[in-house]
Amino acid sequence: MNTSQYDRIREKVAATGLSHIAFIMDGNGRWATGRGLPREAGHRAGGENFKKVVRMCGDCGIDAVTVYAFSTENWKRPSAEVNAIMRLLDSFIGDAKREKEENGIRYVFLGDKAALAPALAQKCEELEQITKNYKRLLNIALNYGGRAEIVHACNTLIASGKTEVTEADVSAALYTAHCDDPDLIVRTAGEYRLSNFLLWQSAYAEFFFTDTLWPDYSLDDLEDAVNSFSGRRRRFGAVL
Ligand code: IPE
Ligand code: IPE
Ligand code: MG
Repeated sequence: MNTSQYDRIREKVAATGLSHIAFIMDGNGRWATGRGLPREAGHRAGGENFKKVVRMCGDCGIDAVTVYAFSTENWKRPSAEVNAIMRLLDSFIGDAKREKEENGIRYVFLGDKAALAPALAQKCEELEQITKNYKRLLNIALNYGGRAEIVHACNTLIASGKTEVTEADVSAALYTAHCDDPDLIVRTAGEYRLSNFLLWQSAYAEFFFTDTLWPDYSLDDLEDAVNSFSGRRRRFGAVL
């Protein structure tokens, strides 16, 4: 571990109150094709790096991490690729279960589990259940779409009998009801869009875009994002 670099980042994280970071983990496919490998190899490398980045964030004092793992639109991909991603998630969940004590992370899946294979959905629920008392948070957006989430929240509120709702009601009916909105959203691989990620929760998020492909995302990249975040003036509409 590069102690001085971690110290430097930790100091900035504490000074700026950066407590929730979200990643749109993009570029796995390009990482693989650039090496003459099948796209699945990129997802494998991306999955490995995802574990590293989550650890890095924890070591930098960031309490909550959200990652975009699979969108409601990603079902449009070839079934072999979708299956490969689901298998990787399945194996990630197995590791997370085994390592829950040492990781000390609470896992929450954002998205509709009903569309997942029943065995995978059950494993997601089980991981949520057995880690629910840990303090550090990792949200994994899986079969997640911001629009679908808002529609789901509306239907939940209608079913509860409400005829009029407040912003607080909507927030409390989203998949992220258990946590604060992200302070910083990072997207890798040089794309400048949200792709249906955290539409409601990103209202006042700061954004950071990098050309780095997700499997290559490193501590230096995280430091760049934190440095940029620490230079922002978040006004939330007020005059400061
Ligand atoms: C992100 O990498 C992972 C998922 C969307 C599941 P991509 O697979 O989108 O990688 P590119 O954008 O094709 O390079
Ligand atoms: C967004 O990436 C979804 C995830 C990272 C899981 P995509 O690669 O699917 O987004 P688009 O298609 O480039 O907008
Ligand atoms: Mg992509």
